[in-house]
Order: sequence, then C-alpha cells, then structure tokens
Amino acid sequence: MAQTHIELNRTGDKMPLVGFGCWKVEDSDCEETIYNAIKAGYRLIDGAAVYANEVGVGRGINKAIKEGIVKREDLFVVTKLWNTYHQKDHIRPAFDRSLKDMGLDYIDLYLIHFPVPIKYVDPAVQYPGDWIEEGNTDILYERSPIHVCWGEMEKLVDDKVARNIGVSNFNVMALLDLFTYCRYKPATLQVELHPYLQQKRLVEWVQKQGVAVTAYSSFGPASYVTLNEEGKTAKPLLTHESVQDIATKHGKSPAQILLRWSIQRNVAVIPKSMNQERMKSNLDIFEWSLEQGDVDALNKLEMGARFNDTVSYGFDLPLFD
Ligand SMILES: NC(=O)c1ccc[n+]([C@@H]2O[C@H](COP(=O)([O-])OP(=O)(O)OC[C@H]3O[C@@H](n4cnc5c(N)ncnc54)[C@H](OP(=O)(O)O)[C@@H]3O)[C@@H](O)[C@H]2O)c1
Repeated sequence: MAQTHIELNRTGDKMPLVGFGCWKVEDSDCEETIYNAIKAGYRLIDGAAVYANEVGVGRGINKAIKEGIVKREDLFVVTKLWNTYHQKDHIRPAFDRSLKDMGLDYIDLYLIHFPVPIKYVDPAVQYPGDWIEEGNTDILYERSPIHVCWGEMEKLVDDKVARNIGVSNFNVMALLDLFTYCRYKPATLQVELHPYLQQKRLVEWVQKQGVAVTAYSSFGPASYVTLNEEGKTAKPLLTHESVQDIATKHGKSPAQILLRWSIQRNVAVIPKSMNQERMKSNLDIFEWSLEQGDVDALNKLEMGARFNDTVSYGFDLPLFD
C-alpha cells in the first residue's frame, strides 16, 4: 500500500499527502464544495482566514460530520494566521475567530501565513485583513517580531486548541532564526512548489530538519492567470508537452502527473478544484508512480518562476529575495 501520509514531528499526527485547497472558493459555494471534497475522499482541508470563506468551509465540514461521512478526528483541518494579526495580543483572537467561523473546537495545523507583520486592522472595521489597508496604496508594517508571534502560536498548542503549528512562505534564514528560540519546532512549511519552481535545496534541507513540506500551487501558473502578468504570460504547465507526454504514457491527466511528481518528493499537495471530476482525479495519485526518466524530464522544467510573488501584485516587497 502506497504511503498516503506524512508523520509530523512532536505529535506523530498523520498529515494526508493530498488535501483540498480552499483559496478562491467563494464563501457562498464553500459549504457544497467542501462537503463534496470530503465525500470524494479528501481528509485534509487547507484554509486561511484571508480566503474569506471559513464560515462556508466550516459548514461543509460540519455537514459531512453530521451525515456520518467522517468523524472530526478523521479530518485534518489547516488554517492560517493572517499578516495583520501578528501582534502578541491579536493572535489568540484571530485564531478564535477562525475557530468560531468554522464552528470547530480545535485546529489540526495552524500556520503563520507569511513572515510579514502588517499593521493591525480591527476586524470590526475590516475582516479579514488584506495586504493593503483600505484607503492606502502600499503595505504598512508593524513592529511585531516573529519570535513573539511564534510564542503565542506555541500557547495554542499548550491550550490544546491547535494540535500542530507551522509556517508558510518562510525561507531558510527565517527558519534558522526560529529554530534558535522555539519550544516547538514548526510541524510543516508550506511554500509554492511545482516543476517551474522546485526549490530543491530548500525542500531537502527543511525535510532534514524534521519539518514536513507542503506544496501550494502545484499547477504553477494555472491559478494566477487572472491575478498577475506572470500567471498570464507563462506557458501553462498543464498543457506543457513534457507533462502531456508523461500523462499519455501513464494514461493519467497532466494534473495527476504534477501532483505525483510532488508526493514522490514526500511533499504534500493541496490542489483546489471546483469541478467534481477533477477533484476526484486529483486524489487518485497513489496506486501508480512516475519512473526516474519521467522525474528527470519534469525536473528539467525548472526556471525559478514564482507566481505568488508580492512584487508581481504591485507591492514594494521583494519578500523572497
Ligand atoms: N500558503 C500560501 O501562501 C498559499 C498560496 C497559494 C495557495 N495556497 C493553498 O494551496 C491551494 C492550491 O493552490 P492554488 O489554489 O494556487 O491552485 P492549484 O491547485 O495549483 O490550481 C488550481 C487551478 O487549477 C485548476 N485545476 C484543478 N485541478 C485540475 C485538473 N485536474 N485539471 C486541470 N485543471 C485543474 C483549477 O480549476 P478548476 O477549479 O476549474 O478545476 C484552478 O484553476 C490553495 O487553494 C490554498 O489552499 C497557499
């Protein structure tokens, strides 16, 4: 039986290698979409406060539990602390808001979404916060260090409301610093990963530290076509001839090839699809494998192309430089 989970450090919790991503699922479609995803077999749901759909995500989860499709303990629910809530006093309220919106009493994995502390915006004025406060033209930062933020994340573990904590969009420098003071090592790092941006050294080093890696945007430019110039102009990965050739050879879809490429690196994936057939086929990546020649061909597609880049959205923040 193929391995379907990654065992997390500290808790030994089994994080599914494939989960369902909730970014850009409209809140109004969310209950049905998440319910369908769970029915299709997804057990990990990857959300975030900033996706502005946690109420719908929670309804979908609770509907599936109520109908007896799953028990709460069968699910692995992930959500993320947004940048405007990094200050010591804002972390627990932000976490509690996610919990309340989803109608849950604990989270399996809570991530710092970005290592970017942005000026607090009162949720009564705007919720969720954004990169740019309404009425401004660029990011306003806040003096709240990550070590303070991480200390508050650790208290969520002590209080048994978050089983695991982790980070997203951190690089090696940020992780090295965090390792010098943390009581609990991050369980996971979630970053953009696909054949156009493989981040081989980062992935291998992070895995060696006992931190599990999750890939987001496994289909490269596909989800950025309407968001930035890079997404619009890059050659789509899903129709790239190398990916298509391998797909034809295995009788699989290009999407399955890209997802399989990732899990063969022991990197979890969280594809999002609004289409039930694609949703199902994205899960079907365990009972077959890519050959070394396929992996080598996909590895040749590396071009350092990052699509979820703050600069590409017009912000003066070269975060990944
Ligand atoms: N931590 C972070 O900063 C961060 C950033 C970005 C994303 N994420 C997480 O990662 C998840 C996935 O990333 P993503 O949303 O960027 O996109 P993705 O899963 O890489 O791609 C989604 C796009 O691919 C299409 N698609 C899905 N399955 C397909 C298939 N089998 N064949 C052809 N097209 C397919 C979808 O269209 P249809 O819906 O029409 O199928 C959608 O346009 C997000 O939902 C979110 O949970 C995290």
